[in-house]
Amino acid sequence: MRFDGKIAVVTGASSGIGRATAARLASEGAKVALVDVNEAALKEAMPEGDHIAIGCDVSDEAQVRACVNNVLAKYGHIDVLCNNAGVACSHAPIHQVDNADWDRVLGVNLRGPAYFTQAVAPGMIERGQGGAIVNTASVAGIRSGAGGNIYSASKAGVISLTQTTACDLGQYGIRVNAVCPGLVETGMTKPVFDYARGAGKEDKLGKRAELRRFGKPWEIAAAIAFLASDDASFVTGQALPVDGGNTASLNMPGMKV
Ligand SMILES: NC(=O)c1ccc[n+]([C@@H]2O[C@H](COP(=O)([O-])OP(=O)(O)OC[C@H]3O[C@@H](n4cnc5c(N)ncnc54)[C@H](O)[C@@H]3O)[C@@H](O)[C@H]2O)c1
Repeated sequence: MRFDGKIAVVTGASSGIGRATAARLASEGAKVALVDVNEAALKEAMPEGDHIAIGCDVSDEAQVRACVNNVLAKYGHIDVLCNNAGVACSHAPIHQVDNADWDRVLGVNLRGPAYFTQAVAPGMIERGQGGAIVNTASVAGIRSGAGGNIYSASKAGVISLTQTTACDLGQYGIRVNAVCPGLVETGMTKPVFDYARGAGKEDKLGKRAELRRFGKPWEIAAAIAFLASDDASFVTGQALPVDGGNTASLNMPGMKV
C-alpha cells in the first residue's frame, strides 16, 4: 500500500500501460484520476473505489489546465503524475515522412507531458510535500529501430524533458523520472502483433530482447509504480529502460541464436 492516501493522475489511462498503471496505483491505495482523450473507453478501465475519469486531449493546453483543476477540485492536491498518453507514427524513412505528423506526435508525446507538468507542479510546490512525476518515454528515444523518426524524436525529447524538469523541481522535493518500455502488447502495437500473428510469425515477437519475449503492460506499470513511490525517494532525472534487456545490446541481426 505504497500509495495509501495519495492522489495520482494517469494520462492515457483507457488502454495498455496507462490502464495497468492506474490499476496498480489504485491497488496500492491511491485515489486515481484516469485521463484519456478516449473518454468512452475510460469507463471500462475504472478500478474499484473512489476514482474519477476525465476526458482530456493532452496536447491541448486549455484542456490540460481544466483537467488538473478538476482533479484539484475533487481531491485537493496531487501527489503523483504519470504522463503516459502517447501516439505512434509511420516508420517511413526521413525523406518520406508525413510532416503533418510532427505537430500531431510532438503535441501528444512531448507537449502533453510538458503541459501537465506545468499545470501540476505549482500545486506540488505550494503544498511543500514533494511529489513524483513519471513520464513514459520509450526505447525508441534511446536507439533507432523501435519506432518511426518522429515518434523516436518525441521520446528522446521526453527523456530530455525528464532531466530538465527534474533539475527545475528537485529543490522542491519533486522527483521526475521516465520509463523506457520495450515492445509491449497494447492498443498502440496491435497492428504489429496482428501482422505477426497473421503471417505466422508470432514466435518472432520480442525476440530481439535479451529475455527473448515482449513485455506485458503490468510489467511497465510495476516500474512506473516504483519510480512514483517512496521506494525511489533518491531517484530523479533518470530514464529507466524496462525492455527485457533490449537496449543493453547492439543486437546485431544474425549474431545471436
Ligand atoms: N506498447 C509499446 O510497445 C510501447 C513501447 C514504448 C513506449 N510506449 C509508450 O507507452 C505509452 C502508452 O502507450 P500504450 O502502448 O499503452 O498504447 P495504447 O494505445 O494502448 O494507450 C495509449 C493511450 O493514450 C491515449 N491517448 C492518445 N492520444 C491522446 C491524447 N491526445 N490525449 C489523451 N490521451 C491520449 C489513447 O486513447 C490510449 O488510451 C505511450 O506513451 C507509448 O508511446 C509503448
